[in-house]
Amino acid sequence: MTQKVQITIDGKTVDLPVLEANEGLNVVDVRGLIGEGIFTYDPGFLSTASCDSSVTYIDGDAGILLYRGYPIEQLAANSSHLEVCYLLLNGELPTKSELDDFEKEIRSRMDVDEHFQVIFDGFTEDSHPMSMICAAVAGLASLYHDGLDIYDADHRREAALNLIAKIPTLAAMTYKKSLGEAFVKPDPSLNYAENFLNMCFGTKNKAPNVSPTLARAMDRIFILHADHEQNASTSTVRLAGSTEANPYAAMAAGIAALWGPSHGGANEAVLDMLNEIGDESRIEEYVAKAKDPDDSFRLMGFGHRVYKNFDPRATVMQESCHAVLDELGLKDPLLKVAKQLETIAREQDYFIQRRLYPNVDFYSGITFKAIGIPVKMFTVLFTLGRMPGWITHWNEMLSGGFKIGRPRQLYLGPSARDYTDINQR
Ligand code: SDX
Repeated sequence: MTQKVQITIDGKTVDLPVLEANEGLNVVDVRGLIGEGIFTYDPGFLSTASCDSSVTYIDGDAGILLYRGYPIEQLAANSSHLEVCYLLLNGELPTKSELDDFEKEIRSRMDVDEHFQVIFDGFTEDSHPMSMICAAVAGLASLYHDGLDIYDADHRREAALNLIAKIPTLAAMTYKKSLGEAFVKPDPSLNYAENFLNMCFGTKNKAPNVSPTLARAMDRIFILHADHEQNASTSTVRLAGSTEANPYAAMAAGIAALWGPSHGGANEAVLDMLNEIGDESRIEEYVAKAKDPDDSFRLMGFGHRVYKNFDPRATVMQESCHAVLDELGLKDPLLKVAKQLETIAREQDYFIQRRLYPNVDFYSGITFKAIGIPVKMFTVLFTLGRMPGWITHWNEMLSGGFKIGRPRQLYLGPSARDYTDINQR
């Protein structure tokens, strides 16, 4: 029997059906409320499910993250980013031959046309890489627009393959542009993460020389960032896609949303914060600022809308961070500051009461820095990792029935009034 909730509006009792989840919270279907002449109100969508989805499940209290039912810890330990891309897109893990074919399809699409590369001529070496990657992905819409039928599953699959294949190449191009160096083409002898590192740190027409340990760490980082349910940037992709916009344009909208320091831009903000703190002697000063309600400073890399216990990705990321630092024999003083901040956050009431724990961005910045990725590139790497998640949600929405996203509001402005001539004001 379908559960329901009842609300009474102006003396009239209205039944609202409860839709059952396979995992996690059920939802009250409030679509009928418009007929009762009332809206729901939920700025920031803390209590609102915007859609149904079968892609990713998060339990914020238990620190659980599942991609198509598989725990993130198992995927990070045993899978590869391209295998996770296949899983997200298709819903099942591939067989060996399916994965081989998928990798070949991605490899064959990694290159970016020479004439398209001039899009980077519009930028300078000081341009923020996120502005470049956002423009470049939106620019792909110019190459793949005419004839693209978003209601054709084969066309959607082609867009997915193109975006997953080209995002590492475009990301590396933003890095090379910031160095004023020549772009390095993808190398068919390398795997996905090796190719990305070689296109960043290699030299045109020179044999690649990529550390397998760093490539494995980078691949694992991409896995950790691949999807995360209806976060701000994924919700932006869905909203843009709901207008039937070109998928490349919808992904560019997601990139723009990810850039903010409250979201994907936090990894860059974590490093800026750690550098500003400098050493352990100044930690208490900054912790006090974070606690001060009159100070807008927040401990970047801490807190999460959903995780109120721990972010399982942060745990895996911390392991990757140590593996990279050990491999490189680095003793990063910022790591000591980070560890001290984490200890304080676990011990002090302000953070415990608000359930603020390190999130995925807290250790990724230190890891990227150790690998030699400049701070301004951190969110570009998040973009690279998250691309399969955005595409999967866009495809899931397009594959089923969807309506254009068009929220309403609580209007607090002036009631109707007549225009007055300027000489009467
Ligand atoms: C990502 O949604 C996703 O899934 C995102 C993501 C993904 O994979 O897509 O996981 C990636 O974006 C991770 C989050 C990265 N952002 C940061 O690290 C920036 C720092 N964190 C905060 O800005 C904040 O924690 C948010 C934005 C992440 C969450 O904000 P919420 O859920 O809206 O919480 P809130 O702002 O209502 O804060 C609740 C309380 C407030 O104090 P009170 O008013 O109750 O006294 O906690 C405080 C806040 O001031 N608080 C913090 C804090 N985060 C929240 N205080 C100090 N430092 C912080 N980082």
